[in-house]
Amino acid sequence: MQVSRRSQVDPFIVMDVMEAAAKAEASGRHIIHMEVGQPSTPAPVGARAALASAMEEGALGYTVALGLPELRRGIADLYQRWYGLTISPERIVVTAGSSAAFLLAFTALFDAKDRVGLGLPGYPSYRQILRALSLQDVGIETAAAHRFQPVPSDLEGQNLDGLIVASPANPSGTMLSRDALADLIQACDANGTKFISDEIYHGIQYEGRAISALEISDDVYVINSFSKYFSMTGWRIGWMVVPEDHVRTVERLAQNMFICAPHAAQVAALGALSCEEETEANLEVYKANRALMLEELPKAGFTRIAPPDGAFYIYADVSEYTDDSLAFASEILDDAGVAVTPGLDFDAGRGGQWLRFSYARSTADMAEGIKRLAAYMAKRFPDHEVGA
Ligand SMILES: Cc1ncc(COP(=O)(O)O)c(C=O)c1O
Repeated sequence: MQVSRRSQVDPFIVMDVMEAAAKAEASGRHIIHMEVGQPSTPAPVGARAALASAMEEGALGYTVALGLPELRRGIADLYQRWYGLTISPERIVVTAGSSAAFLLAFTALFDAKDRVGLGLPGYPSYRQILRALSLQDVGIETAAAHRFQPVPSDLEGQNLDGLIVASPANPSGTMLSRDALADLIQACDANGTKFISDEIYHGIQYEGRAISALEISDDVYVINSFSKYFSMTGWRIGWMVVPEDHVRTVERLAQNMFICAPHAAQVAALGALSCEEETEANLEVYKANRALMLEELPKAGFTRIAPPDGAFYIYADVSEYTDDSLAFASEILDDAGVAVTPGLDFDAGRGGQWLRFSYARSTADMAEGIKRLAAYMAKRFPDHEVGA
């Protein structure tokens, strides 16, 4: 039996790095994880308590496809708290992480062969999911001068049916200002390009707050998740806000593709919404980690980095050391015992000269990781002038 052409997507390299790191750990090595974008903290206490009592009380069977009404209301309240926006809970679709939301959004908005733009470097799965759905991914090489985000002039002549952006972005951590986001949405509007905003890193921000596309227009799809700010990656729970007249279309797709998001995770997510003290305390750790990384990475030799506005990543230009970030990351893992992600995951063209460092773990782990990186770099590039 032959597999389909559209199933031939690229591997998610960071998952391969995680596997190599897990193998090293299984052989007894101690590895510092700077590869994966996930907090080491568990789901908030209130999330776990809510699930513990729900497990005693009920069967946790299927829910309605759009999600538990109380969770949809809770998410709508979050829009009021975070952005001062009144969003009808009717427009909120609860999904199995933002990953399931991409499937729903791309299916609801596009037909086979439609052209969907995405900034490079960017989150790799957009591209692969688009390909698996027989859609055309149109990579837009972004510039450091534009903070690695697309700008309206990038869209000219591209004939795009859709555009997906993330702010804060992965891997760069950069955010679109209100004006930059509004300009992009306007440019898309003028060209009949549907706009999807991945807001999964909202809440994890260091310089001002992230702007939601919903503050600018209601005619957009906004995707978010409990994975990052709420520290619930493995629970597979997220959401999407869609225009009112799309709800029924998305509901029919969700019914057939997923039946519903996991009921247990929905209960836990509802609990997580009232754990602000705990989630804000996690943010303090990321703040401390970010400061440490920005101070110490240049001393270790990673001098070409721009301070990220949000998320928990630093994207470093390592072209002075390599053109093969895959081999470089592999050597760093073997030699220094630090797992980092090659830029190739995010930008097939230029990513050979970039690495992404994630600082989502504990500050003690980050300090140890930097110590190891510095020792490795001093040994590997003894003659190199670094910023110390
Ligand atoms: C920008 C971005 N979007 C979406 C995801 C997927 O997240 P989820 O766990 O909600 O599926 C990630 C995961 O790292 C991400 O970085």
